[in-house]
Amino acid sequence: MQAAGNITVALALFHQWLTDAEHAGIVEPSAMVLATATKTKSPSVRMVLLKQFDDRGFTFYTNLSSRKASEIVENPYVALLFSWPELDRKVHVAGRAEPVDASEADAYFASRPLLSRIGAWASRQSRPLPNRFVLLWRIAQFATKAASGQLTRPIFWSGFRVVPNEIRFQNNRDLQIFSSPLAVMEAQQE
Ligand SMILES: Cc1cc2nc3c(=O)[nH]c(=O)nc-3n(C[C@H](O)[C@H](O)[C@H](O)COP(=O)(O)O)c2cc1C
Repeated sequence: MQAAGNITVALALFHQWLTDAEHAGIVEPSAMVLATATKTKSPSVRMVLLKQFDDRGFTFYTNLSSRKASEIVENPYVALLFSWPELDRKVHVAGRAEPVDASEADAYFASRPLLSRIGAWASRQSRPLPNRFVLLWRIAQFATKAASGQLTRPIFWSGFRVVPNEIRFQNNRDLQIFSSPLAVMEAQQE
């Protein structure tokens, strides 16, 4: 089991690297690859945006009907990859995805720009729409609702927090510079 201090060090280093990426002018510095897998071990990956990071973990939001959300419900063990090639840095995270509280998701949804809120309602993530006119019609429909102040968080849209049990930091010159199994954190959470 690792010393508890490793968690603090790993989270502080991640915060520093994310801040460096933001200051380096990288496009979408908070973009991360999210890997999920079904219970029968069939994996899939996609990009998502990190929306909150603190000592509880790494939070992203999504449509709960999406493939990623269905796979997390089946199997909550996921991996994340942050890649900042401009800085020669990567961070790998492995952990368990947990749904955020409804109140937290409501507050985050309310803080989003209007177009993003309309998009959350209009999009049918992972499921095709018959054509782009259907999408435009849905956008118009939800924009009208937004104008009358009725656009609260859809029940099919929320967040997951990835509670890490491992964080690995890499840079290309100095391959693996720091690895933290975070065993203490996992023991506290289980
Ligand atoms: C840079 C970037 C950021 C993205 N961020 C998100 C996100 O935060 N949440 C999300 O649900 N989809 C996001 N997407 C779309 C996903 O990559 C993906 O296409 C979609 O969520 C459907 O994934 P799934 O069918 O594997 O669940 C993003 C795409 C890109 C290119």
